Amino acid sequence: MNLEDSIKKLSKVIHSSKSLVVMTGAGISSESGVPTFRGEGGFWKGRSAMELASPEGFENNPELVWQWYEERRTKLKDIKPNPAHFALAELEKRCARFTLITQNVDRLHHQAGSKNILELHGTIWKNVCLSCPFEEDHPEEKRPTSHKCPKCGGWLRPGVVWFGEMLPEDTLSKAYRASENCDVFLVVGTSGVVYPAAGLSEIAKRSGAYTALVNLEKTNANVDLVLLGKAGNLLPKIFSAEV
Ligand code: OAD
Ligand code: ZN
Repeated sequence: MNLEDSIKKLSKVIHSSKSLVVMTGAGISSESGVPTFRGEGGFWKGRSAMELASPEGFENNPELVWQWYEERRTKLKDIKPNPAHFALAELEKRCARFTLITQNVDRLHHQAGSKNILELHGTIWKNVCLSCPFEEDHPEEKRPTSHKCPKCGGWLRPGVVWFGEMLPEDTLSKAYRASENCDVFLVVGTSGVVYPAAGLSEIAKRSGAYTALVNLEKTNANVDLVLLGKAGNLLPKIFSAEV
């Protein structure tokens, strides 16, 4: 099938869906200027993921880890959602049941207006205390420089999931449930190498859903339809195409 026909096909499938799940990865934010993880110039290129994004890395050098996350926050402040994020927010308004599962921590889906979002890998816009239950959203607006807990004085950490850590239990179980119960599962902008996120489309497929991938390049995802190209170009077309 050529790209044009694939767009029409997917558009048709989505229009008749009664329960849609979309799962996104770093690729959907790349057109906003957020680097992906594994590509050219990716986050992990030339840096040790274990040093910057693991509990051991934080224990060894919390200042270094915080420096990296603060740099990312500073860059993200000037970054806006792109047509792919907006197309998903628009689509949600027209869907009976819609779940957006994202591996991204940038909150660009929230900024674009999406509502039913499961942040599988947490968010960079949260601080969590390592020693007490204290948590805060958008901490940079309140206490720009401190990385110590205002309640107990312990170390705060960013509210993201690090290597070797479990995913937030409640969010993950909601993601499993949505994947098992959808009739269409669309994967956008992810290399599909990090589990359990990468296994969700397989779960959906086994439960009978139609599965599709929109990505710049081929991945190992075992889906019914693959559309290669930029999400910011393809998603608005797919979601608005006449059927
Ligand atoms: P990756 O960097 O592994 O993959 C991004 C994918 O998006 C690649 O397959 C690109 O080809 C594709 N891509 C790039 N630009 C695109 C565009 N404009 N439109 C469509 N596709 C595009 O990022 P993720 O798969 O999100 O985890 O990485 C998964 C997880 O690995 C991340 O959440 C992070 C990382 O370690 C944690 O931090 C826990
Ligand atoms: Zn505390």
